[in-house]
Amino acid sequence: MALTFTLDPAFDRALHDGIIELWADVTDAGGAVGFVPPADAEEIRPELLKHLVSIVEGRTRLLVGRDEDGSVAATAFLALNSHRLMTHWIWLYTVMVHPRHQGRGHGRELMAAAADAARGLAGVEAIRLTCRGGTGADRFYASCGYKEVGRVPGAIRVTDGDDRDDIIMLFPLHGQSSAPVPRPC
Ligand SMILES: CC(C)(COP(=O)(O)OP(=O)(O)OC[C@H]1O[C@@H](n2cnc3c(N)ncnc32)[C@H](O)[C@@H]1OP(=O)(O)O)[C@@H](O)C(=O)NCCC(=O)NCCS
Repeated sequence: MALTFTLDPAFDRALHDGIIELWADVTDAGGAVGFVPPADAEEIRPELLKHLVSIVEGRTRLLVGRDEDGSVAATAFLALNSHRLMTHWIWLYTVMVHPRHQGRGHGRELMAAAADAARGLAGVEAIRLTCRGGTGADRFYASCGYKEVGRVPGAIRVTDGDDRDDIIMLFPLHGQSSAPVPRPC
């Protein structure tokens, strides 16, 4: 079943709770979205609040994917640059698909929707993101057309003795198709 993506959804309590739940479930399933298991909603809430403040200030756009029940199943946050010399590209943060929906092409659809959203932003030419080494996320992003442009060795300390590379990836918006590659069901 396809997810339905909405850019800049109306933000209410249900959406807030849905994102927290998604973030916690993704963390507990081993997803590299800023936390380590076991997820703590009270730790996640301030991070969501930071995104919300940025949304209210017009610096961030929220992309949400909902499943057939209307539950929050995927997110990505598109953050504009405040640096005057870097306004021609944006950051993409907190890319996640709920574990029960992973592995069915929804991640690639989410990235295509993010690229479409970015193309709608005046003057934006590229999307940049970082991901945690050793998770396979770089292979996922590469399958969506992103290229590794840099790597900081051992920059992410998941736990003592488990340092991971911080991988920087870039997607040029022009001349790249945002259409998801069809996959067999
Ligand atoms: C990463 C994530 C968004 C991918 O979503 P998804 O719906 O499972 O991905 P898709 O089904 O669209 O997969 C697209 C392609 O990426 C590959 N892929 C997806 N996740 C992968 C992983 N962890 N490692 C390697 N390849 C992966 C798939 O095999 C597929 O390739 P294929 O078409 O050649 O078979 C999802 O797994 C997720 O939310 N993970 C936890 C959160 C996270 O770590 N996010 C990244 C933050 S940097």
